Amino acid sequence: MPSVLFVCLGNICRSPTAEAVFRHKAAQAGLDINIDSAGTHGYHIGKAPDKRSQAAGVERGYSFKGIACRKVADDDFDKFDYILAMDSSNLANLLEKAPDAQRHKVKLMLDFAPGHEGQEVPDPYYGGKKGFELVLDLIESASDGLIKQLQAS
Ligand code: 4NP
Repeated sequence: MPSVLFVCLGNICRSPTAEAVFRHKAAQAGLDINIDSAGTHGYHIGKAPDKRSQAAGVERGYSFKGIACRKVADDDFDKFDYILAMDSSNLANLLEKAPDAQRHKVKLMLDFAPGHEGQEVPDPYYGGKKGFELVLDLIESASDGLIKQLQAS
């Protein structure tokens, strides 16, 4: 079974949103995928996703049930096939930790969003509702792209 880990800074806004969106889209596509998310920092360990992320996602039909914040662990590099960072700071942090043999698994999530390759999912934490909508737009596009790639492989 393929496995995908989504990673942001706090694991309460962007990466849990990616987890919720990708779970929904993978199920719709009939794909059996091991899906999880984690943060590079441990500010909010054990907490549910940010209320604003949940509200924006639920409005589009996604479920955040059962998602709780955790920090990236050393064995994640072994366990997951794709380790997808939301921004270049998360990417640099992951590449610093990744064993050489597993560095190829670490990519930007938006490398899978047509027209947004190499770009970041902006941190919505200190902004307004628009930022959470943009996070969803970008993550939906990248999730569709990743699903296409998994279906082709
Ligand atoms: P996330 O957003 O990385 O998308 O979960 C953030 C959440 C919390 C903080 C920063 C960004 N924080 O500083 O607590």
